[in-house]
Amino acid sequence: MPLSRRKILAGSGIAASSLALGSVGNIATAAQKAAPQPFVPHDWKSVRAQFLLSPDLAHLSNFFFASNPAPVREAIAKYRRAFDENPYNFLDDNMFERDQDMKWRDVCAAAAEYVGGQPDEIALTSSTTMGLALIYNGLRLKAGQEILTTTHEFYPHHESMRLAADKWGASVRKIPLYESSLNFSPDKAIARIRAAVRPHTRVVGVTWVHSNTGVRLPITRIADTIADLNRNRNEENRILLVVDGVHGFGVIDEDVAAMGCDFFSAGTHKWILGPHGTGIIWAKPQNWALLQPTIPSIMAKEPEDAWRQERPPTGPTEASWVSPGGFFAYEHQWATIEAFRFHQQIGRTRIQNRILELNGQLKEGLARMKHVTLHTPLNPHHSAGFVCFDVHGHTPKTVVQTLRNHHVIASSTPYSTPHTRFSAGIINSPHDINKALNVIHTLT
Ligand SMILES: Cc1ncc(COP(=O)(O)O)c(C=O)c1O
Repeated sequence: MPLSRRKILAGSGIAASSLALGSVGNIATAAQKAAPQPFVPHDWKSVRAQFLLSPDLAHLSNFFFASNPAPVREAIAKYRRAFDENPYNFLDDNMFERDQDMKWRDVCAAAAEYVGGQPDEIALTSSTTMGLALIYNGLRLKAGQEILTTTHEFYPHHESMRLAADKWGASVRKIPLYESSLNFSPDKAIARIRAAVRPHTRVVGVTWVHSNTGVRLPITRIADTIADLNRNRNEENRILLVVDGVHGFGVIDEDVAAMGCDFFSAGTHKWILGPHGTGIIWAKPQNWALLQPTIPSIMAKEPEDAWRQERPPTGPTEASWVSPGGFFAYEHQWATIEAFRFHQQIGRTRIQNRILELNGQLKEGLARMKHVTLHTPLNPHHSAGFVCFDVHGHTPKTVVQTLRNHHVIASSTPYSTPHTRFSAGIINSPHDINKALNVIHTLT
């Protein structure tokens, strides 16, 4: 390594470690303050006690960046300590030494169990965004082919499409699936997708739960529609359904592998409550075979063997080939297993029902207020963990600030037409909901 680079790294190491010491010190203090709580999965108070969330705040932005429950924090701490004690052997033993000891395989197995699929259908990413980029960038689109999408996608989805279309000489077309999100009709949305598909449409890209309106799309029905449209197409022109699934994953009790989409990307650092900088892509082997990997993987044998033997890799692309290298924050990646386990201990159906119930209370309370316009459908089948709304005479940013002044944590949606957004999760109680509604009530 050139001296200058070593010097820079050494210098930043000192700065980083002193910074890290400061923040770790704070975390340790908070952790020490919290008495150890036994975990009783069917008791919501006990569930909440597994988190270090400030007790004086009503945390109603749960979709954003997970606070990790105790088992996830403990797993991260355990791995981090082992890395700090002997980084070479701990990484080598768990990543490279023996195929059956590769820890990432356990992460894929845990994710596969959660999605109702197989471990070899999972690629490990660092976020929803990374997953979407790997999918679109890797799809070998032909010049003239089209990606059909909606006007409701978030930036990383649209941007992944734009970059891929530029690269492959393809195009992107956006259609609205609804004008009024409050009155969202799945039938009309599906009819619009069906009518919009053209002979050169190769990809349909949608989002399971829209983060600007809270609308939940019926992915299975969309997949059925696309399967129907594919009946007269050959494999080369088959329409592929790509889903940004992050705000349904960990909320809605549906097996992703049974929904019928072709590619599904979701971060596990939001509703799954996993470590920061973690995520997955799920796809069937036949669809992985369509992708050209973007980032060299260190989880796949064939591409590395091929490199050593100075030949191109042979055989179809597999999920592991698309899992990016180089080294990751493995203490985070591996602790994702505990997040899936935490969900399973509580029960996916119970989690879904709790989230729908709490957000339902928010919606009903807001719908009764004359100075509020609700954007999220009241129907729990058409929504999930978001409640988006406007307060007349106030911008979303000022509403969020007022809520914060009253110890309620909400967000303003970062879209061209922003809204105020609540997002109740399993860490909330009806008391948090009332607190939030009381503040909005005062904004007449
Ligand atoms: C719909 C949607 N997709 C993707 C993302 C980005 O997720 P990540 O941080 O996992 O890349 C967000 C962020 O909340 C989002 O709302």
